[in-house]
Amino acid sequence: MLKVSDLSFSYDGKTKALNHINLDIKKGTWVSILGHNGSGKSTLSKCLVGLLSPSQGEIEIDGLPLNGENLIDIRQKIGIVFQNPDNQFVGVTVRHDIAFGLENQCKTPEEMEEKVKYYANLVGMQDFLSKEPHQLSGGQKQRVAIAGALAMEQDILILDEATSMLDPEGREEIVELIKVLNKELNKTIITITHDLSFAAD
Ligand SMILES: Nc1ncnc2c1ncn2[C@@H]1O[C@H](COP(=O)(O)OP(=O)(O)O)[C@@H](O)[C@H]1O
Ligand SMILES: [Mg+2]
Repeated sequence: MLKVSDLSFSYDGKTKALNHINLDIKKGTWVSILGHNGSGKSTLSKCLVGLLSPSQGEIEIDGLPLNGENLIDIRQKIGIVFQNPDNQFVGVTVRHDIAFGLENQCKTPEEMEEKVKYYANLVGMQDFLSKEPHQLSGGQKQRVAIAGALAMEQDILILDEATSMLDPEGREEIVELIKVLNKELNKTIITITHDLSFAAD
């Protein structure tokens, strides 16, 4: 369902951050992409969600090529959670943060609240809807970020070092959650990490 063919990317037109990458990821699988710092993992994940345009090569999701024309459709298929729980918390409260992506989807307030509650419950944050980010642990913030991504109901979720700033407990929370998303919701999961212990899970 996710196919990358001969993908290269350069920030400056000279050095290549990605050099002829090929990937073929099947629906419902959980894939870990492992690489040391600076090896191009985040560049790859940004290309996959259309935040960066490849210098060369192609990305296809569900048979749909990622290009300017299809970007809106592609964004409905693939979501991303980044490394730093503080940089991606955009709402005033947990409720607003989970709802953020839904606000562009012409939903009624009731529909939005229903979705927010459903996904907050799924990540175990249902009792925190009115909390502000400073009242949450790192693991809780990442769970909220995941709920926000899930609320978009995309089939593929990329977690780019999403646990690397968490303590062991926070990391375990997220790993357990990913297992549920993959096994029970049949989400295709791409975890990107430099940490072998996480990749091995
Ligand atoms: N915005 C940017 N502008 C220029 N170079 C960048 C930028 N982001 C990353 N790079 C460079 O691209 C390479 C790959 O970076 P990145 O994809 O962030 O690696 P990783 O996520 O594996 O640590 C590195 O050499 C990095 O310095
Ligand atoms: Mg990175």
